[in-house]
Amino acid sequence: MTFWLWLLILISLVVVISLLVWSKQNRQYQSSDSVAAAYDAWTNDRLLETLWGDHVHLGHYGNPPQTRDFRTAKADFVHQLVSWSGLNQLPRGSRLLDVGCGIGGSARILARDYGFDVLGISISPDQVKRANSLTPAELTCRFAVMDALDLDLPSSGFDAVWSVECGPHMPDKQRYADELLRVMRPGGVLAVADWNRRDASDGRLSRLEKLVMAQLLNQWAHPEFASIAGFRSNLLNSRFCHGPVETDEWTKATLPSWIDSIQEGFRRPGAVLSLGPGALIQGIRETPTMLLMHWAFASGLMQFGVFCCRSSTHSADDSLLG
Ligand SMILES: C[S@@+](CC[C@H](N)C(=O)[O-])C[C@H]1O[C@@H](n2cnc3c(N)ncnc32)[C@H](O)[C@@H]1O
Repeated sequence: MTFWLWLLILISLVVVISLLVWSKQNRQYQSSDSVAAAYDAWTNDRLLETLWGDHVHLGHYGNPPQTRDFRTAKADFVHQLVSWSGLNQLPRGSRLLDVGCGIGGSARILARDYGFDVLGISISPDQVKRANSLTPAELTCRFAVMDALDLDLPSSGFDAVWSVECGPHMPDKQRYADELLRVMRPGGVLAVADWNRRDASDGRLSRLEKLVMAQLLNQWAHPEFASIAGFRSNLLNSRFCHGPVETDEWTKATLPSWIDSIQEGFRRPGAVLSLGPGALIQGIRETPTMLLMHWAFASGLMQFGVFCCRSSTHSADDSLLG
């Protein structure tokens, strides 16, 4: 009995110490450089790519959600966002900017299946290198290192702008909205998908929710999450916004992704182990955050928001010019 009691105390101590170390050893947002460094590391260790393929975003499992392969759900997500936002109304050859493009999974689908001429930008130089190396020469896809808050691109240069799960890394949501809309021509289409926090008007955070929120921000280099209503206002308040903004919530359709993200490690143990012991430790290190994300989205602390803006052909400035 005494032996089992001591064993229980020892295990509890190990668990508590591990959780304390985990919660302190975070990747708290400092600047766009710290985000770039985090994504460079996530790209170079190949763990995410090995487990999840070339998409660093959630999957869409249908309404109501159905069991499906994680990678298929990720590709389906891209097609769902294309049709929901009306991007599929644009002709082949349209110029599309993918802001926060990861290693180019979505950009390649947008070029291959919809014929768009895609420029993907990311703050992470190693993601851009990897995106280039994964892209066959015949696809109309290019990639460049650029900061979403300071796009080195002309105004109105794109027919469409796409940004998936990039917003949580933006310290200035209004500037992010301004830049997305600035580079889109009048009559263009904006499609954004994001992890959003519950709006303050829908209830203050409890003490437990505040603790969880701190981890969701600090573990993955997020300065802040916008709410769906908050980011919709950012888009509508932008001086570059020339049309209505539609939003929807895809929390239920995307929720199975979090558990699938973890289960992929068990489905492909050989693949993880082949990357070396560092990958295994890295996988274990990311698991509590993915469980917290699942809890946060399931409990209503977080929501998966989608946004689209199909701007009118003539901006206010155009009509003033007659
Ligand atoms: C969760 S990943 C999503 C990647 C990609 N959209 C996808 O769906 O696979 C977030 C992306 O935002 C990019 N990002 C974060 N901060 C950025 C910034 N300031 N400028 C440009 N890209 C940024 C990261 O490098 C990463 O590619």
